[in-house]
Amino acid sequence: MSVVGKSVERKDALDKVLGLAQYVDDMHFDNMLIAKGVYSKETYGKIISIDISKAERVKGVVKIVTSKDIPGENLVPIVRKDMPFLAEDVVRYYGEPVAYVAAETIEAAEEAVKLVHIQYKPLETVLSIEESIKEKAPKIHPHGNIHKSYKIRKGDVARGFSEADIIIENEYRTPHQEHSYLETNGMLAVPAYEGGITVYGSMQCPFYVQEGVANILNIPLNKVRIVQTVTGGGFGGKEDIPSLYAGNAALLAYLTGRPVKLVLTREEDFFTSSKRHPSLIKYKTGARKDGTLTAIEVTYYLDGGAYSTLSPIVMWRGLIHATGPYRCENVRVDSHVVATNRVHCGAFRGFGQPQVIFAHESQMDILADKLQIDPAEIRRINAVNVGDETSTGQKLETSVGLLETIEKSVDKSEWQQKRSIYEQDKGDKRRGIGVSSCFYGVSLGAGGRKYERSGAYVEINRDSSVNVAVGTTEMGQGMRTVLSQITADALGVKYEDIYIVPVDSTRVPDSGPTVASRATVMSGNAIRDACRQLKERLGKVAEEMLKIPREVLVWDNDEVYFKQNPSVKLTFKSVIEEAYKRDVHLATQGWFVAPYTTFDEETGQGWCYFTYVYSTNVAEVEVDMTTGIVTVLKVTAAHDLGKAINPALVEGQIQGGVVQGIGYALIENLLYDKSGKMINPNFSTYIIPTSVDTAVIDPIIVEHIYPDGPYGAKGFGELPIIGVAPAIVNAVFHATGVRMKELPVTPERLFSVIGEKK
Ligand code: MTE
Ligand code: MOS
Repeated sequence: MSVVGKSVERKDALDKVLGLAQYVDDMHFDNMLIAKGVYSKETYGKIISIDISKAERVKGVVKIVTSKDIPGENLVPIVRKDMPFLAEDVVRYYGEPVAYVAAETIEAAEEAVKLVHIQYKPLETVLSIEESIKEKAPKIHPHGNIHKSYKIRKGDVARGFSEADIIIENEYRTPHQEHSYLETNGMLAVPAYEGGITVYGSMQCPFYVQEGVANILNIPLNKVRIVQTVTGGGFGGKEDIPSLYAGNAALLAYLTGRPVKLVLTREEDFFTSSKRHPSLIKYKTGARKDGTLTAIEVTYYLDGGAYSTLSPIVMWRGLIHATGPYRCENVRVDSHVVATNRVHCGAFRGFGQPQVIFAHESQMDILADKLQIDPAEIRRINAVNVGDETSTGQKLETSVGLLETIEKSVDKSEWQQKRSIYEQDKGDKRRGIGVSSCFYGVSLGAGGRKYERSGAYVEINRDSSVNVAVGTTEMGQGMRTVLSQITADALGVKYEDIYIVPVDSTRVPDSGPTVASRATVMSGNAIRDACRQLKERLGKVAEEMLKIPREVLVWDNDEVYFKQNPSVKLTFKSVIEEAYKRDVHLATQGWFVAPYTTFDEETGQGWCYFTYVYSTNVAEVEVDMTTGIVTVLKVTAAHDLGKAINPALVEGQIQGGVVQGIGYALIENLLYDKSGKMINPNFSTYIIPTSVDTAVIDPIIVEHIYPDGPYGAKGFGELPIIGVAPAIVNAVFHATGVRMKELPVTPERLFSVIGEKK
């Protein structure tokens, strides 16, 4: 491996730092119209009438669409179809799209938006999980307020609790979180010939968008081409909702015959895009005196918001991981995602796991405290290893690096010394150190079985440069770089010679979404499949040129040489020249189908994910006892991700995830007023961490090779955020003796409890 494992420079670095990268808002087509949305100003209400007559008269307005103008099905196809492209009879949250205007200028579009008059009959709202599950709660959907439920039944929890020396029961709450990608959502739809349409835009999942556009227009998939533009961050937020924006932009383009650009303002994006689900989680945990877990019982509620979008699969992931990366024979988990009249929630880095892991890792800490066991030790005692079973009865066969992440993060953070030093702090500023462990099933697993395949197209040009097309997307995580490294080593060429072409739905078959940290394994393995086919064709050529059997030829770093005598060699370029002369076909499609996974909805048992990644975070904090302000001093984060294809990118992912986790733990707080309107939909009032809030971050890479991954890699892009909040909250407990069970731990909240204690 010449390139895999090295911290080569990011493919997209220069474009981005020089400002050359073309985001969708940088694009322009002749004759292009600008679209603006008309968003509901009612939280829950029947639509009595929509009057567009005044708005239509604004100079420059070309078209205004409402649900009546949709030729196809007015439903966004995601897991379950319940979200309309445009509200029809009812609006179910404040900010829901009701109409879109296309005009010659942005000013005209904005003017028209103000003049669209919508009359509503207000309905009684449901604004929290508690309200939603009340027996007499108003129904938000005809099927009721439960979007979906799942469960796990393993062993016998009653027996497990009877064997326990200690049982603890607690309730936890977590808030919404906004993705805060730097680039807001945006789409540009352009009519193509013969009734086709092309949509350019910021997105994670081109094939979802393709289906969405086909659905709203009632045209076949082959008439819809989706091209991903440079995407300024996604974090899960550009997974479901881009289909809605693309669908509406495409509808306007289709009806006007002109290109239409729809780019959201930050506020519009806050109001209408999916968020991380708020949660209410009840845990009952039993353990023996020596710390071993005997039973875990969980009830996990998620606030899915007005529409279910990705909620079922987000909740499913939370369910599977609700008992943490530990052995426990008796498990009962019930999970429900419920409807409220708040914005729909969807994917966000961690996908339903940061919520349960916060709760579960708090439980582990409470157990450790009550049993007088070191918190790192109680995790080590229960940690899964090769041969152990998950809560769903899946036996972990390979690549389980959890114990090493515990050992390394504990050692490197000087856990033991700091535990005792910090315990001496008795003044106004008190330091504490806390730990958490977690795991993450890579890719969609049994919950998204139908998407578990990916394609890749690899083409070697006459000059021996290489084009690669994949169906997964770059959103900042470094996929273009990682896949280029994999291609380079799979063919034995230089990294500089690889170019990943812009993602275009016409280049590869439907490859599923770019979510669940799946791109490295899925696209990586598809690329290797394509490269293997090409090498077979080239092997024949090289064999004849060198008169040495291809089985003993090594392809590396632009050379092909004889294993036993490396001086007998050819350049890759010369093999390509010869292959072109011989009319060898030097382009091919690769394909990868994920290993088999299952889940039985009745028992909640099954082989849920094909592999898992593991991490342990150690956080150190300082708490100001007079203000309640928590400063995170340091986070030591050890991650087992199989082979690190690019260590610098791995460290970057860890650093970014930790900062996002600090925001989730301490700062980010999306607020609603009593009527259900979001009141801080921008970055002046929804505060996210900046450089002053970040900590010293010490990433540690642990490599337990996954044999079926490309060069042993597993996907881990989401793992870095998952364990951060509980490590911080556990450190706050160590510093203050105060156990916070609700996020975010704002100074007001913490101070009110410290005050009580004083
Ligand atoms: N890193 C950056 N810089 N920007 C992002 O939008 N998204 C995260 C993670 N890291 C994200 C990121 C999420 S939610 C996922 S699912 C993975 O990257 C996706 O990347 P992968 O499939 O290449 O692992
Ligand atoms: Mo990531 S939340 O799976 O897009």
